[in-house]
Amino acid sequence: MSRVAIVTGATGGIGKKFVERICLMEDIDVIWAVGRNKEKLDELCEVSPKVVSVEADLAADGVDVIADLIDSHKPDIRMLVNNAGTGSMGPYYDMGRDKVAACCTVNCTAPSELISVVLPYMREGAKILNISSASSFQPNPYLAVYSASKVYLKNLSRALSVELKPRGITVTCVCPGWVDTGMLPKTKDGKEIRYSGLISPDLVADKALCDSSRGKDMSVPGSFAKYFRFYSKITPASLVMKQWMKAIRRYI
Ligand SMILES: NC(=O)c1ccc[n+]([C@@H]2O[C@H](COP(=O)([O-])OP(=O)(O)OC[C@H]3O[C@@H](n4cnc5c(N)ncnc54)[C@H](OP(=O)(O)O)[C@@H]3O)[C@@H](O)[C@H]2O)c1
Repeated sequence: MSRVAIVTGATGGIGKKFVERICLMEDIDVIWAVGRNKEKLDELCEVSPKVVSVEADLAADGVDVIADLIDSHKPDIRMLVNNAGTGSMGPYYDMGRDKVAACCTVNCTAPSELISVVLPYMREGAKILNISSASSFQPNPYLAVYSASKVYLKNLSRALSVELKPRGITVTCVCPGWVDTGMLPKTKDGKEIRYSGLISPDLVADKALCDSSRGKDMSVPGSFAKYFRFYSKITPASLVMKQWMKAIRRYI
């Protein structure tokens, strides 16, 4: 029986790094790299013969596609990385119903359903990693639905880490601050945007896999996100949001 790792959002900055790192793990035979972009998925397959591309839109029937694959292969699932995510900064008023729905579905519904789909195929020692965000530490105006979706994923993750412990399954919630990937706009009005505490996707993947192997329920990469987590705990949300409102002028 193949020992499988599933990585969603494998074509993106952080997801690709997860795939590259997991390829080096001796206890994983196959990596199902999930994404929508066929060209990028094909490129990923060149990284290692272990990588199998799975074309799936998690805002549509993507979870069914993965569930059917699992049904037909009946693999030993050693790892699920719920990494796919979507969201953009801007007024909620302008976002429109479709973007709001896609954000909730990809960031909340799909990871929750995927966990229930993989659990019957996970045994002791299996790992689940959920990529939330430092934006789950406080409410973020102009990033409202995204940050709310990441709170959902964080709370789901932490609760399941307790529930699944007796079964020997580790659940780790990953909360990075700004990460240098295609998700972040690079310029505003022709000028380069500087993101405070920007870190590389390599750091996120390396720390997350290390924290997961140590059985940690939280992984917060970079000193900026660590500080921000602490600051958000001791500061009234109204004050943190006031400061955020000043900071976002740089980004939108
Ligand atoms: N970058 C940051 O500053 C930052 C900070 C904190 C947390 N995060 C989180 O980190 C995760 C990875 O993001 P990233 O920074 O690597 O961004 P990215 O480069 O934009 O990657 C996003 C990934 O999600 C996938 N995706 C989006 N919508 C999808 C859908 N409907 N169905 C299937 N896959 C979909 C994309 O695949 P396609 O090829 O199909 O588009 C892509 O692989 C996300 O959950 C994000 O919220 C990012």
